[in-house]
Amino acid sequence: MKLLHVVGARPNFPKLAPVHRAGRQQGIDQVVVHTGQHYDDAMSDAFFRDLGIAPPDVNLAVGSDTHAVQTARILERIEPVLVKERPDWMVVYGDVNSTMAAALVASKLGIRIAHVEAGLRSFDRTMPEEINRVVTDRLANLLLTPSRDADAQLRLEGEPENRIAFVGNVMIDSLFYALPAARTTGFRAKLGLNGSAVVVTLHRPSNVDDPRRIRALAAVLSEIALERPVVFPAHPRTQRRLESAGLRMDRVRLLEPVGYLEMLDLVENAFAVITDSGGLQEETTALGVPCLTVRPNTERPITITEGTNRLVPEPGDIVAEIRQLRRPSVAPRPEGWDGRAGERVILALANHL
Ligand code: UD1
Repeated sequence: MKLLHVVGARPNFPKLAPVHRAGRQQGIDQVVVHTGQHYDDAMSDAFFRDLGIAPPDVNLAVGSDTHAVQTARILERIEPVLVKERPDWMVVYGDVNSTMAAALVASKLGIRIAHVEAGLRSFDRTMPEEINRVVTDRLANLLLTPSRDADAQLRLEGEPENRIAFVGNVMIDSLFYALPAARTTGFRAKLGLNGSAVVVTLHRPSNVDDPRRIRALAAVLSEIALERPVVFPAHPRTQRRLESAGLRMDRVRLLEPVGYLEMLDLVENAFAVITDSGGLQEETTALGVPCLTVRPNTERPITITEGTNRLVPEPGDIVAEIRQLRRPSVAPRPEGWDGRAGERVILALANHL
């Protein structure tokens, strides 16, 4: 069996790592294609180092642009790679532009597509990720799901049973794998954090591109920072928006994007996380850390029904929510969030060949 994995953006890399490792342990022939959607060291290479993945075999260097231009560059540049490699499976991850673009090309070439993290839906088509999820799932030959609600959703959409395989959550494999190393980084100590901090990440266009909304969020974070430390590793897009809006957040520790291990060190010991990221909603649940998601919806409802996540769409409600948070005594453990999902992906790929 020959696998060709396609990744491109930061959240893809912790999903690739456990599948690639399980494939390597089975002696499977594997090629990794990086589209280059993310390219800064902190957004890309640092993750390969932290997760122990070899550098990609191919980098398409598509870079940043509008969605159409970025997608078009991936379409053009990945086609000859797929024609040359002709894998038994092309494996794509999550919901970024690279996922959807690669799926479109492979489907026209008759290359079988496996989608890791299939079946998640926010039902919000204003998010580019939702469009990427729907298109990728429609094109995929094998839908590898992280939770049972995703299986149910795919059945509702008419997907046949033999195309759906529940494998569990590969993000949690990476979390368990990396925690021991994260605990030795001393990152919190370097920041001088002794109490438990509120850790913030915000990068969705819906939160950071509207100057009024980012101003309201900045005011809320400054208010929380009166009561406890607030640490905010900011995505490049967010940094630029804060600068152009002339926003200075008093007392908030604004950082450049941090590596995977450093982030885990911060999150594991956080009082709470405020975020709009998908991955952090899952990581906080697995670590038993309260999470406030600044969005009106989530494609990961299991983090609410079984986990530590709450949706807080209005910035004005965040301070009151933070004040009443309690850390659960035991971290929730949804089915298949057990550190073995990567192995089950490889098994499912072999069984469905
Ligand atoms: C992408 C994903 C999003 C994911 C996020 C994680 C899509 C549609 N969105 O959004 O789901 O949550 O990655 O980070 O695929 N930039 C840099 N350096 C980089 C990469 C980007 O400075 O290495 C800046 C550029 O100005 C770029 C902007 O960030 O224009 C946005 O990058 P892009 O990849 O288009 O989308 P993200 O917002 O990162």
